[in-house]
Order: sequence, then structure tokens, then C-alpha cells
Amino acid sequence: MAADNPGKGEERRRFLAGLLRVAVISGIAAPLAAFLKFHLRKPPRLVTVAKRLRPGGFILEPDFIIIDSSSGPVALSRRCTHLGCRLNFNEEKRELVCPCHHSRFSAAGKRIAGPARRNLARFPLRRLGDGKGFVVEI
Ligand code: FES
Repeated sequence: MAADNPGKGEERRRFLAGLLRVAVISGIAAPLAAFLKFHLRKPPRLVTVAKRLRPGGFILEPDFIIIDSSSGPVALSRRCTHLGCRLNFNEEKRELVCPCHHSRFSAAGKRIAGPARRNLARFPLRRLGDGKGFVVEI
């Protein structure tokens, strides 16, 4: 049959070779992309905050907030876990409030209400040696 129409056999061979090429590339590309995504995370950024924290107080930074809690100072992300809006801090209620869809989080980072489903991220923090501030790893 292929001898009757040699062009069709060649076309079929090219189609199968192309299909095989796509299968091999996608078979390699997907695991490679997953590997690189996992292993090429950005190194953490160290942010120095040269401010004193009053007892029961807070320090508001663009990417995080340091809050003096009953267990000591904690650094919480200000990125809402719903869609990523920047959270504001309500001093009276000691809550982080999202201006976008009104999710609320406690001063410990726990979700209280709203469409967000996860608690806030906590960043490692250490005090500066002289007690005049913090270094936060974000
Ligand atoms: S982005 Fe914060 S509640 Fe939607």
C-alpha cells in the first residue's frame, strides 16, 4: 500500500517522529521544571529593623509586622493569604485586616474571618545584640 503512494508513508513517519519528539520533550521538561522550581528558590532576605518594640506594641514594615505578643515578639507577613493584598493593623482590636475582601487575622497570625483560609506566614526573627532592633528573615 505504501508503495502505491510513497508520499503518504513518509508523511506518516514524520508525524510519528514529531509525536515521539513531543512525548520525549514533555516527559523530560515537566520533571525538570518541577525540580528547578523546588531547588531554585530565592534565598531569604534579611531585613534589619532598627527600632525598639514597646511592651504590647508593634512595628509596621512594608512586608511584615513585628508584634509583641504574650510569648514575645513575632514577625508576621502582611501579605493576605487570600489573594495577596497588603494587610493593615487595627491597633484597637489588635487584628490585621485586609482592605480587599476583609479577611481578618489575630495578632498571632491566626485567621479569624473572611475568604482567606490559611493563617499568616511567620518569619524568623532575632533581636539585635544591643536590643535596639531586630533582623527578620523574609
Ligand atoms: S486579598 Fe485579602 S481577603 Fe482577599
